Amino acid sequence: MVVCICNAIREKDLRAAARKGAQTPSMAYAQMGCRARCGQCVSFAREIIKTEAATA
Ligand code: FES
Repeated sequence: MVVCICNAIREKDLRAAARKGAQTPSMAYAQMGCRARCGQCVSFAREIIKTEAATA
């Protein structure tokens, strides 16, 4: 599933970024060489990172 349409970031990419230490959406996006644009995805991205951190 694509989470961030602007950057074509998928849920699995976000989970991988979270496992590599990203604690916020902006950290995760920076890891992938991009950053939030429209911002619509940020709250959902934050939830995904949170759940990934909880299961790590
Ligand atoms: S959908 Fe992620 S910045 Fe627009």
